[in-house]
Amino acid sequence: MYSAHVMDHFQNPRNAGDLPGANAVGSAGNPSCGDVLRLYLKIENGRVAQASFKTFGCGAAIATSSILTEMVKGKTVEELRAVTNAQVVEALGGLPPFKAHCSVLAEDALRSALADYSSGNGAG
Ligand code: FES
Repeated sequence: MYSAHVMDHFQNPRNAGDLPGANAVGSAGNPSCGDVLRLYLKIENGRVAQASFKTFGCGAAIATSSILTEMVKGKTVEELRAVTNAQVVEALGGLPPFKAHCSVLAEDALRSALADYSSGNGAG
């Protein structure tokens, strides 16, 4: 059902956990299943220097969280605004159609983190 790439990111998630010093923190939840993604970004000199996540959710949500933290590294704030859940799914080599909604958490959490960064709050 899942691609090898999805299974790899599910079983060996990259950048899981807190990120001390994060200055852009966003959360997103899926009301239909109750899953939650919290995204931490450390933006330095206008680019993402570090990213991490904490996700309470299904395997697809964990895999999309993991690959999102890899995709955003090095991106400028402007480039982050252009990231979509479709790009996240594509980077994973696809998701089964009935799990595509899980990737929306990634896009929503990224938008939330960008709003946090713009507000200068940095604490989510
Ligand atoms: Fe909830 Fe996947 S089933 S995000």
